[in-house]
Amino acid sequence: MQANSIKVTSPGRINIIGEHTDYNGGFVLPAAINKYVNAEITVNGTASVCNFHALDMREKAHYDWTEKTTKGSSWENYLIGIIEEMRKRGAELRGIDIVFSGNVPIGSGMSSSAALECAVAYGLNRLFDCGFNEMTLIEIAQKAEHNYVGTMCGIMDQFASMMGKKERAVFLDCRDLEYKYLPLTLGDYEILIYNSNVKHSNAESGYNDRRRDCETGVTVLQKHFPEVKLLRDADFAMLEKVKSELSEVVYRRCHYILSENARVLAAVRALENGNLKTLGNLLYQSHAGMSRKYEISCPELDWMVDATRDKDYILGARMMGGGFGGCTINLIEKANSKAFVRETSAAYREKFGWEPTAYYLEIEEGTREV
Ligand code: GLA
Repeated sequence: MQANSIKVTSPGRINIIGEHTDYNGGFVLPAAINKYVNAEITVNGTASVCNFHALDMREKAHYDWTEKTTKGSSWENYLIGIIEEMRKRGAELRGIDIVFSGNVPIGSGMSSSAALECAVAYGLNRLFDCGFNEMTLIEIAQKAEHNYVGTMCGIMDQFASMMGKKERAVFLDCRDLEYKYLPLTLGDYEILIYNSNVKHSNAESGYNDRRRDCETGVTVLQKHFPEVKLLRDADFAMLEKVKSELSEVVYRRCHYILSENARVLAAVRALENGNLKTLGNLLYQSHAGMSRKYEISCPELDWMVDATRDKDYILGARMMGGGFGGCTINLIEKANSKAFVRETSAAYREKFGWEPTAYYLEIEEGTREV
């Protein structure tokens, strides 16, 4: 007999390096973390009525797929998106109740949305025996966000949430979806995720504009180099060749993406060789690119990265995630980490009027039944 309820847990993610490269077919290096969305999905005996309950927000919503849906950035659209994307692919669902809660900070660049999407996609797939494999579930989760929320996100967050491995980073090629797991061996160092507590929403920030700038770059590149389907397919020589046909802004955006892709490859080599100093420098370069060329940082994040520069126990820092707020990721000596947080929290509060939040996270397994 088929079960009529399932409990699923699905993690948020950090990203060591490779920001905004995913939708350009490039490289990323994320890892799933021990912050989760937990969902319980129960068959409710109706044909198509869905009842949603977001415990943390103390909000409920209802949905019936025999009625028309609209796009929107409120939380129920993530769930509606998953249901509809599964139905489009032939899933035979019935009415369900979904109750969920979590501790992935929202709007902080740790992918609370992907965690929610993956939890629901994974749970429904199991509950109704839909037979989708993990790659299809990841695609369903990404398309839910494109088509029902309106963020034209890449594949990194959903991939990391679904496929994460304990104590491993996922080195993912977003063009071919080839991936391999890399041990995160940091010796005396650790990763400090430091939240500026400036909230962003990808649907409303400049995220989609950045994606459009990249697509504009590709359109121009293609005229000369038809093999370029994504920025990943271009190199610096090609970009220089078309420079005069690009606006200054689009050139800068493309230059950042090409450089960031190269940095991910260099970071993987550095990690494999235990060269943490090189890794740290790459984080700083990545931040400089995001702040000045891609323009997705903000004064608070720049301040937080600058606050690390004169500390010899910090090897590198950069803003993490979609941008316009959220967290920095810092490669810091364990022995000095707590003192650094104490010191900078006070100075940050003085400057901006509110406190940042520090997270010491474990690298964990991806989406699973509990
Ligand atoms: C968000 C998106 C991802 C990725 C990052 C930036 O988290 O959901 O697809 O583009 O921003 O690297």
